[in-house]
Amino acid sequence: MKTCDQIRREFIEFFEGKDHTAVSSAPVVPMDDPTLMFTNAGMNQFKDIFLGTGSRSFCRAVDSQKCIRVSGKHNDLEEVGRDTYHHTFFEMLGNWSFGDYFKREAIARAWELLTEVWGLPKDRMYATAFEGSKKEGLEPDDEASELWKGVTDIDPSHVLWGGKEDNFWEMGAIGPCGPCSEIHIDLTPDGSGRDLVNAGDPRVIEVWNLVFMQYNRDESGKLTPLSAKHIDTGMGLERIVAVLQGKYSNYDTDLFAPLMDHIAELTGKKYRGKVGKGAEIDNGFRVVADHARMLAFAIADGAKPSNDGRGYVLRRILRRAARFGRQHLDLHEPFIYELVPSVAETM
Ligand code: GLY
Repeated sequence: MKTCDQIRREFIEFFEGKDHTAVSSAPVVPMDDPTLMFTNAGMNQFKDIFLGTGSRSFCRAVDSQKCIRVSGKHNDLEEVGRDTYHHTFFEMLGNWSFGDYFKREAIARAWELLTEVWGLPKDRMYATAFEGSKKEGLEPDDEASELWKGVTDIDPSHVLWGGKEDNFWEMGAIGPCGPCSEIHIDLTPDGSGRDLVNAGDPRVIEVWNLVFMQYNRDESGKLTPLSAKHIDTGMGLERIVAVLQGKYSNYDTDLFAPLMDHIAELTGKKYRGKVGKGAEIDNGFRVVADHARMLAFAIADGAKPSNDGRGYVLRRILRRAARFGRQHLDLHEPFIYELVPSVAETM
C-alpha cells in the first residue's frame, strides 16, 4: 500500500516530469491578502499572476498547499466530524498553468495520473462540466465536455453537467474564478453510483477539481475576462490517499492513524468509524483529530486565538474541539496540546 508521503511525492513528481516547477506551500495565514482570513486553496499564492499584477520565472507549477476552510465562501466546518471526508484543515495537491496550457492538457494529464499512473478504474470515474448560467450570461462549457470525450477514454456517458455551485469555482466573494470540471469516483460495491455524483454521499466523492481560470469578479459582482487563461487544479490529499489506500474514510488512512490512536489512548475509548445517529464518540474522535491539525498549523503559521477576526475563528475551533472532547469523549482536563506531537510526527 502506498503511504501518504509517497502519494504526495508521486503527484509532485508526475508534474515535475511535465516541466512544472515544484513550489512550497504558502502559510495558512495569508499575510498580504485582506480578502482572506485563511489560505483556502492552492491558487491563493498565485492570485497576482491570475490578475496580471505579478509574475514568476516559471509558467507551470505544482505543490501541496496547506488549506483551512472555516470562513467565507469556502467553509466546511459544519460537515467536519459528521462525515468522513470534510476537514477544516487539509492539503490540496495542485498543478498550475499560468497562461501556458489550458483545458486539453489539464484534462489529459489528470486522467493520465489517475488512471495510468495510479491505476484507478476508468469505469468508476465521472467528470462534470459547467452547464452555464443565464443569470451570469455564461455559456455551457461544451469545450470541456467534448475534451473529456475526445482526449480521454472515459465512458462518454460518465461526462455529466453541473451547475454554478459545483462547476464554477470562485476563490471568494471577489477575485479570480472560472468554470471547472470535477472528477468523481464511484466507490459503491456494484458501481451504481451515477446518481450520487454531487449528492453528498461518501460512496461517490469528488477527488479533483480542474479550474479553467478565465474571469475576475469585482466588488459589484461583475465578471471581467482575465488577460490570459490559466489552469488551477485542486485535489484533496486526504481524499486521494483514502481512495488509493482502499479506505472508506479519510480518518482510516496513515495521515490520521497516529492521531486517532493517540486520542484512543487519552480517552480509553475505541474509534469505530461510525457516522450518523449513535455515532457521538466517533464524531468526537473526528472533530478532535481535525481541529488539532487545524489549530497546530494555524498557530505554527502565526495566527493566535483572540477576540476578533481570524483569532476569533481560531478560538471558536479551539472551543469546539474542547466541547466535543468534553461531551463525547469524557475529557475534562486540557488535552488538545497533548495531541500536537502526533500531528507533528505525521506531517
Ligand atoms: N482552486 C481549486 C479548488 O479549490 O478546488
